Amino acid sequence: MTVTPGRTRAGQVRHFLDLDRFDTETLRRILDLGAAYKRGDKPFGKDKPLSGRLLAMIFEKPSTRTRVSFEAGMKQLGGDVIVLTRSDTQLGRGETIADTARVLSRYVDAVMIRTDDPAKLCGLAEFASVPVVNGLTDDTHPCQVMADIMTYEEHRGSLEGKVVAWSGDGNNVCASWIQAAAHFGFEMRVACPPGLEPDAGVVAWATGNGAAVAIGHDPRAAAAGADLVITDTWVSMGCEETDRAGRLMPFQVNGGLMALAKADALFMHCLPAHRGEEVTDEVMDGPHSVVWDEAENRLHVQKGILTWCLL
Ligand code: CP
Ligand code: NVA
Repeated sequence: MTVTPGRTRAGQVRHFLDLDRFDTETLRRILDLGAAYKRGDKPFGKDKPLSGRLLAMIFEKPSTRTRVSFEAGMKQLGGDVIVLTRSDTQLGRGETIADTARVLSRYVDAVMIRTDDPAKLCGLAEFASVPVVNGLTDDTHPCQVMADIMTYEEHRGSLEGKVVAWSGDGNNVCASWIQAAAHFGFEMRVACPPGLEPDAGVVAWATGNGAAVAIGHDPRAAAAGADLVITDTWVSMGCEETDRAGRLMPFQVNGGLMALAKADALFMHCLPAHRGEEVTDEVMDGPHSVVWDEAENRLHVQKGILTWCLL
């Protein structure tokens, strides 16, 4: 059977929306593509497999890594991008997401969106006839967690049976990590302040799909013996409640917390980091930290995502 580019064998458009929509085999394929691009391989046999292809990127929130890594990745693969901010499109003036999806599909080969509203991502995917990629919503950040998994694997091998400790706000990045636990067989321990727990539906999906997920309020218990310690900003983009220091300071990843993890534990942060808040300089710049590899791997794994979506 011939597979039409950008469509699955079942004929559906290959969107990259969230990790709970995938089978593990497909995520493995994308991670392997990312690692191949990093090595300098040509997994599709060509230098420029996306030659002539265009990606539209809609940013309703700021970005450094996502913006630059997608653009660099598309260009390295022979394609190009069009960047649209909130004020550039008619979305801000009330044109529906469905109509926007229909129109963009006539001009470009794929659309990436960073938005506050997960319903916009889903609406775009429902009405676009080209692949849609989730570049972060208030709920999830799957491209980031794919890069994180790639980074863990390149430093330490498989995540299977490992302990991943999250300390801080149970936010969008945390949610994608919880979803990943159902695919990659690691134990996910989340320590967060009461009231900042990850979404119960995300936890229920992951545990219902075989993941070991524990949600608690003690960062030391979460980090004890962990193979990987992760944190993120206290205040995510669009978060109304900015005064969270009192609640989140006890979850700061500092030298004392890292000392409870395994001696060879890794530290990750999706960035941007707020040094002295959720993480200290000592940890960011210390021997456990792989944050710069993590940022670099956004480029490689997203090349895997883009070619999986489009080829
Ligand atoms: N980690 C991440 O997505 O960074 P940006 O907000 O800079 O894209
Ligand atoms: N949780 C952060 C991630 C930034 C990449 C936010 O949503 O702002």
